[in-house]
Amino acid sequence: MPEMRQSSLVVVANRLPIDDGAAPDGACEWRRSPGGLVSALHPLLRHTPATWVGWAGGTGPAPAVPDVDGVRMHTVPLSGDDLRDHYEGFANATLWPLYHDSVEQPEHHRRWWEAYQRVNQRFAEATAQVAEPGAVVWVQDYHLQLVPGLLRTLRPDLRIGFFLHVPFPPPELFMQLPRRAELLRGMLGADLVGFQRAQAAHNFAQLVAKVLELPATDRRIAVDDRVVRIGAFPVSIDTAEMAALAARPDVADRARRLRHDLGSPEQVILSVDRMDYTKGIEQRLKAYSELLAAGHVKVRDTVLVQVAVPSRERVGQYQILRERVEREVGRINGEFGRVGEPAIHYLTQPFDRAELAALYRVADVMAVTPLRDGMNLVAKEYVAARVDDTGALLLSEFAGAAAELPQAYLVNPHDLEGLKQGLLSALRAGPEDVGARIRAMRSHLHRYDIRAWARSYLSALDDSGSLLTRLGAA
Ligand code: ADP
Ligand code: F6P
Repeated sequence: MPEMRQSSLVVVANRLPIDDGAAPDGACEWRRSPGGLVSALHPLLRHTPATWVGWAGGTGPAPAVPDVDGVRMHTVPLSGDDLRDHYEGFANATLWPLYHDSVEQPEHHRRWWEAYQRVNQRFAEATAQVAEPGAVVWVQDYHLQLVPGLLRTLRPDLRIGFFLHVPFPPPELFMQLPRRAELLRGMLGADLVGFQRAQAAHNFAQLVAKVLELPATDRRIAVDDRVVRIGAFPVSIDTAEMAALAARPDVADRARRLRHDLGSPEQVILSVDRMDYTKGIEQRLKAYSELLAAGHVKVRDTVLVQVAVPSRERVGQYQILRERVEREVGRINGEFGRVGEPAIHYLTQPFDRAELAALYRVADVMAVTPLRDGMNLVAKEYVAARVDDTGALLLSEFAGAAAELPQAYLVNPHDLEGLKQGLLSALRAGPEDVGARIRAMRSHLHRYDIRAWARSYLSALDDSGSLLTRLGAA
């Protein structure tokens, strides 16, 4: 058995940052799956000697995955039962809906909780193997909330961080979870628990005080003989990379061709989402359909491009959503489209980064209207891609990004009339207003990019500063 290589920085996430592991020629490459977490951490780890512990997709024994751009890939296997009960069950049919305001009903099953514990234990054991003495370990997201506590038992020498990419709900929702105390205790195994927004840290502190009866403020929690720090660290994107991509002549050409292929409309509205009930796709389609019906928007002048990549396809609520969205797109196109002029261009394919950048460049209005979202990186990517300081961002108040991008056209997606008005305001805004808003948002994102996020989180976690020195050199 070869000796296990150990690293001083270990990222632990449900997924490895690859799709299918291999390129067509057999070589391994970064192929980002359409997901926020992978996109967020990719630019950082490329430059840092690190191990990523995660699931490679599929079921059965863990495949060996070669290092990717210098990052070691340590795979954790999931069985068919784990996939069903941990990933599709507890993670995505209990926690996901509950953490997103219960916009769909969360389900509770004891078998799912057992699988969640079992899989978290497996991730903790794998991490304990690959972390060198005193290493920094950064555990990500709601699939792995028990890992910090389990890992601390196995390896008390480690510096452990936990970051939640999704919202952390208010006490009245979280209290519904049958195993609420265990979930909180699991997170408290970390030295630093990070959230997207200050409100989430506040919710967490309140719950810890209420459920575990521990002394807690919005910044610090006393647990046994330790202090766990908590705080908000809003995740961001590689702004410079997206801006450079969008500025490439071939991407600009592609954007021009796209506009031509769309029928050279006066205005293009774009939405890019995972097919998820939290993203507000149905509400947006309804708003658009009512604007078409009332004649406020005309198919020849304005087109909507809706990209919706299928996600978590075996979970019932996702299957139902896809059927409903596709039925509604068909209805709207049937009612308002003409031959060669659909009202909605509906695409379910994953695109490479250059094609996404071209789509962002062609969009006069970007409609990002989730009912609830931890952050929403698509909104930030759009802003970064608007290198000519044009383009209106229509943004839900309930996306984490809204706290940082107040210059967007903000809407409440639950308010249909408000959503329609917001869309019309964005479509009709003058170039000066649009320009001033996008400039302010771009300058914010150039300052608060993915590196600033990682720096602020890791400097709070690793007070020795050694890890940061290496990251700074990257
Ligand atoms: P979530 O994490 O809920 O999926 P985010 O908006 O935070 O939502 O992140 C989505 C990420 O997935 C973004 O980086 C976006 O560029 C990427 N993405 C979304 N749709 C596609 C697609 N069709 N092809 C490729 N990447 C996509
Ligand atoms: O942002 C939440 C999240 O679960 C990310 O961790 C993930 O990258 C994305 O949604 C896609 O979800 P999944 O891994 O279930 O395909």
